[in-house]
Amino acid sequence: MFRVPFALILALASTAIFRVASARITDVVLFGDSYTDQSRAHSISNGTYPGKDYQEVYPPADTAADGGFQWPFYLGLYGNYTIWNYAVGGAVCSNALTPLLGVPDVAVGQQAWFVQDHVAHNGTRSQRLLLDPASFVVILFIGTNDVGINNFVTNDQPAAVSLPDVADCQLDALRALHALGARHFVVNSLIPLQLTGLYGGSSAPVIYYPAPPHNGTAWHREMTNLVQSLNRIVRDGVRALDAEWRAAGDGGSVQWFDTYGFFEEMYYHPAGFFNGSIPANVTGHCHQCPDPDDWRQCGIGDCTLEERDSYMWWDELHPSEQTGRNLAAEMHRKIEGKSKY
Ligand SMILES: *[C@@H]1O[C@H](CO)[C@@H](O)[C@H](O)[C@H]1NC(C)=O
Ligand SMILES: *[C@@H]1O[C@H](CO)[C@@H](O)[C@H](O)[C@H]1NC(C)=O
Ligand SMILES: *[C@@H]1O[C@H](CO)[C@@H](O)[C@H](O)[C@H]1NC(C)=O
Ligand SMILES: *[C@@H]1O[C@H](CO)[C@@H](O)[C@H](O)[C@H]1NC(C)=O
Ligand SMILES: *[C@@H]1O[C@H](CO)[C@@H](O)[C@H](O)[C@H]1NC(C)=O
Ligand SMILES: *[C@@H]1O[C@H](CO)[C@@H](O)[C@H](O)[C@H]1NC(C)=O
Repeated sequence: MFRVPFALILALASTAIFRVASARITDVVLFGDSYTDQSRAHSISNGTYPGKDYQEVYPPADTAADGGFQWPFYLGLYGNYTIWNYAVGGAVCSNALTPLLGVPDVAVGQQAWFVQDHVAHNGTRSQRLLLDPASFVVILFIGTNDVGINNFVTNDQPAAVSLPDVADCQLDALRALHALGARHFVVNSLIPLQLTGLYGGSSAPVIYYPAPPHNGTAWHREMTNLVQSLNRIVRDGVRALDAEWRAAGDGGSVQWFDTYGFFEEMYYHPAGFFNGSIPANVTGHCHQCPDPDDWRQCGIGDCTLEERDSYMWWDELHPSEQTGRNLAAEMHRKIEGKSKY
């Protein structure tokens, strides 16, 4: 089926987190892009705009950008959480800052879904959050497309837009959700995108960038810089916001999840993470598109189902389903206050 063509080890200052003041976390709300989306992008490209309480998880009839079930599905299983996944493949933090495909962004469209599902009488004096603030955590995992092709890495971002604007967008999204009553947040850092096939240094044409020819060395260097820079800026902002909310004493808190460090751990110590029928493979990818100019050929030459869970990556840009299971398990530990990332 048509696939949307885009789809620092940090010791935490505070270890005891969400469980302390609260009852059990029962719900997880997610915002993001194709690294998190299960089916919203496909639903939109199918001609149906996801409505209130949309919860579709389609495999095997349709799959997420990891080739199967996306990691929030596994997070729900591992933690017995109800998952509210508002992520959309191809999304950026704000279409006004780093426009790409125009799908619902974190700042506007994805938040509107959250309001539709969980806020009664929005915008009136009787506005009310329908979820118990103590019972849910918001996970924000965005930025890959903001720094990616047709934005920063190819120097195509709007002239007046800089990385701090993109970082502020993420922090503003947290503030907006906090204003609606949400209190527990995790912000996921960018992964080491320079380790993906797309940004790994190859100049070969890829399905995500068939033409014109590009300088893979330049992309690789630039992406290394972009990821480290955006992560540093957002991390510092998250720390400041957490301190601000803790000082305000309204129960608000925001944690940083070092997705970068966790992905490095998988990349450099794969044996404990990948369990398909062949030795772990963190440099290649299962899903193949033999002709970068013809997406209809994608799938020819894929690894077998038995081999799949040996791969860290599904394709040139997206983590595999097994990487997603690993991430889900670590995010579950994070929510329980037990993750070192
Ligand atoms: C898209 O439409 C196809 C064909 O009707 C269907 O099989 C698939 O489940 C739909 N996927 C989504 C995400 O809506
Ligand atoms: C899972 O969560 C549901 C709803 O929060 C709860 O009723 C059920 O007891 C939980 N199951 C387990 C095994 O914890
Ligand atoms: C909720 O209300 C605010 C304030 O009136 C408004 O800006 C926003 O667009 C509303 N959101 C939705 C999804 O209706
Ligand atoms: C590609 O970029 C690298 C790093 O910026 C540079 O050294 C190299 O000369 C470029 N190659 C071409 C063919 O432009
Ligand atoms: C690999 O491990 C995951 C748990 O992380 C498990 O769900 C999956 O079935 C395993 N894959 C294989 C091929 O055994
Ligand atoms: C990893 O997988 C790729 C397929 O994408 C393959 O070409 C490569 O040889 C594999 N590497 C190892 C070390 O097996």
